[in-house]
Amino acid sequence: MTALVKSAGVRVLKLSSAVNFRLNQSGETRTRSLRSFSMLMSPPSKAIVYEQQGSPDSVTRLVNLPPVEVRDNDVCVKMIAAPINPSDINRIEGVYPVRPPVPAVGGYEGVGEVYAVGSNVSALSPGDWVIPSPPSSGTWQTYVVKEESVWHKIDKSCPMEYAATITVNPLTALRMLEDFKPLASGDSVVQNGATSIVGQCVIQLARLRGISTINIIRDRPGSDEAKENLKALGADQVFSESHLNVKNVKSLLGELPEPALGFNCVGGNAASLVLKFLREGGTMVTYGGMSKKPVTVSTTAFIFKGLELKGFWLQNWLSLGKVKECREMIDYLLGLARDGKLKYETELVPFDEFPVALDKALGKLGRQPKQVITF
Ligand SMILES: NC(=O)c1ccc[n+]([C@@H]2O[C@H](COP(=O)([O-])OP(=O)(O)OC[C@H]3O[C@@H](n4cnc5c(N)ncnc54)[C@H](OP(=O)(O)O)[C@@H]3O)[C@@H](O)[C@H]2O)c1
Repeated sequence: MTALVKSAGVRVLKLSSAVNFRLNQSGETRTRSLRSFSMLMSPPSKAIVYEQQGSPDSVTRLVNLPPVEVRDNDVCVKMIAAPINPSDINRIEGVYPVRPPVPAVGGYEGVGEVYAVGSNVSALSPGDWVIPSPPSSGTWQTYVVKEESVWHKIDKSCPMEYAATITVNPLTALRMLEDFKPLASGDSVVQNGATSIVGQCVIQLARLRGISTINIIRDRPGSDEAKENLKALGADQVFSESHLNVKNVKSLLGELPEPALGFNCVGGNAASLVLKFLREGGTMVTYGGMSKKPVTVSTTAFIFKGLELKGFWLQNWLSLGKVKECREMIDYLLGLARDGKLKYETELVPFDEFPVALDKALGKLGRQPKQVITF
């Protein structure tokens, strides 16, 4: 079986010796096997691989991977950019519910350019920009080969740093605004971790719907500047945690209505503060635990305020057969980014400098923008 190549750039190798290199990509085990007949092969790939779970700065390394077969239904994508998200770090640490079998290539989202397609592929051509949608493991490498169905073609006019990061965080913000309470223009929501990409997207997507946001950030150097930045994005109120050390936080709401919906990605005191802002019968949605501290809820909150606690996990939502819906929302979000209506700060880092980007993503160098590796 020899796949036809639609890109002159792809090397078709004739190989005689058998080589076994097994590498997990998105749960499937793709065998990088070189066989004794002609076939369409990807170029060799450089990848950030972890061979065991553990501290990301000690278990990840740059590995040269041999070419992989591009089968008839496959698309070979030359990666352009991919971010380092907290969940990527958690996967490597082995503390995420989904643990790809090791050795594994890191990364879960990103954008790339189609380099070559197998003979059965009709909807994608070399030069197209694509993202794995729903996201898929193994984006921290120069060439990714996966089935056509994994890839979603996107408009090239969107800046690549947004294309690379549009799924995991912006989509989470959008879903959380849509899925838990019926919100109307004039309502408000409250959230902690407001400086995160999810938090920044919540602010902007809420604003587009006429919904106000009450935002909580942690006390740290630069928090005044962070407040100004969030206000520039459209945040109505921004408080650092220490400013909320008052008897009645709602007295700080001013003209804003009490929120019925709150988002928590921090835990500990920051989660308690979200609960304090909620109106009777309100819902707090937990989607992250950046402080690694548990959520504690007062008895009063349950009995007298009837508060409801829920969780959100994008991967769970995506597993409910939502591919089409996911791609429609991605196109919507990319359109907003292209039109300057959805913004967040990223730092582009050349692939060779991955260890520095990782240190920044791990918080070792103080507050940093979202690290996006470029290939
Ligand atoms: N459940 C889901 O499906 C889902 C999907 C996407 C994201 N998430 C989660 O959402 C959260 C935000 O992700 P992101 O990529 O948007 O974040 P990000 O842009 O990488 O920013 C990290 C955020 O965490 C805060 N932070 C870091 N360490 C902290 C600590 N020790 N205590 C309190 N806050 C801390 C940072 O605050 P500073 O600005 O003060 O540094 C910043 O707001 C993460 O927990 C992520 O796992 C969950």
